[in-house]
Amino acid sequence: MPNALKPNNSPDAACSSPSLPDSVRSLGELMRYTRSELIDAHLASPEADARAIFEAATSAGPADILFHGDEEYTGDGRELLAEMIARRVAREPLQHILGTAPMLGLELAVGPGVFIPRPETELLAQWAINMARGLVGEGVGKLRVVDLCTGSGALALAIAEEVPEANILAVELSDEALVWTRKNIAACEQRWGGPRVSLMQADVTDVSALRANQSLDDWWGNADIVVSNPPYVPDSTEVFEEVMADPHSAVFGGDDGLDVIRPMMNVVDALLRPGGVVGIEHDDSSGPDMMSLLGAQWEYASVSVMQDLADRDRFTVGKKPE
Ligand SMILES: C[S@@+](CC[C@H](N)C(=O)[O-])C[C@H]1O[C@@H](n2cnc3c(N)ncnc32)[C@H](O)[C@@H]1O
Repeated sequence: MPNALKPNNSPDAACSSPSLPDSVRSLGELMRYTRSELIDAHLASPEADARAIFEAATSAGPADILFHGDEEYTGDGRELLAEMIARRVAREPLQHILGTAPMLGLELAVGPGVFIPRPETELLAQWAINMARGLVGEGVGKLRVVDLCTGSGALALAIAEEVPEANILAVELSDEALVWTRKNIAACEQRWGGPRVSLMQADVTDVSALRANQSLDDWWGNADIVVSNPPYVPDSTEVFEEVMADPHSAVFGGDDGLDVIRPMMNVVDALLRPGGVVGIEHDDSSGPDMMSLLGAQWEYASVSVMQDLADRDRFTVGKKPE
């Protein structure tokens, strides 16, 4: 990329808002500039990020670049594009810049205070959806699904979207996260035309406090499926800078990553009906520990560790004895 396309770094620029070089005029030049800035910033996926930012700021897609790339860009997205590039170069997560993160077919609102849903969690969501559809097919009347540590509502809402018959309870502790959970539930409910997910603020490691909550009376021993993507990264793990934008309590799970999962197993066991199933996402180093944890509670034969697309242990599933 020629020097002429570098950002304005004159002394005056230090206190002004970011801007694009005047020489960058056409759609194609804007796209190339965006891409080169993100590549120079050594991001993990600069091409994909550049496309997402460019599209969000200019509303122009690949076909516009292909057929109108040489034409001058006359839209009003230049300032926004410059701001988005600067934020991403400063390592702000792409999802915070866009304001949304995908989860299967959904676009969930995210921002500071809530964990950004990750693509690998779609595997657990899909497992739960398959389980739920199977039970609906078997004629289970009032299907009950619980999502512990719901964050943005990612798992609960993905399941509710695909299995409208399910009654879903989502549990989350953090005040800051719950602002986003409520927003996402409200947006989905407006589209669905009614409620499918009940939300509760509670600590999933405290089975006695949960037991004392009368609004849960109907749920104990009656849940068909429990899913959870809890905080599970061992404290000493080095993470990408972007992960630090997620709340610490959403990511890290103590020395071995199991500080939340261990006590949460009592809640899982108390919620599930005999024959009910659980799926819990965990660190890729925790597969053997998860086997022991679930196997000690139920029967080893009913527990298995599932791998992600990179063949890493990603979530463990188990069935409570009938
Ligand atoms: C890894 S995030 C997952 C969020 C969401 N399930 C997802 O997949 O995107 C873990 C979530 O658990 C919540 N959390 C942490 N400790 C908790 C606890 N003791 N009780 C309830 N929620 C908790 C965090 O606030 C965070 O929203």
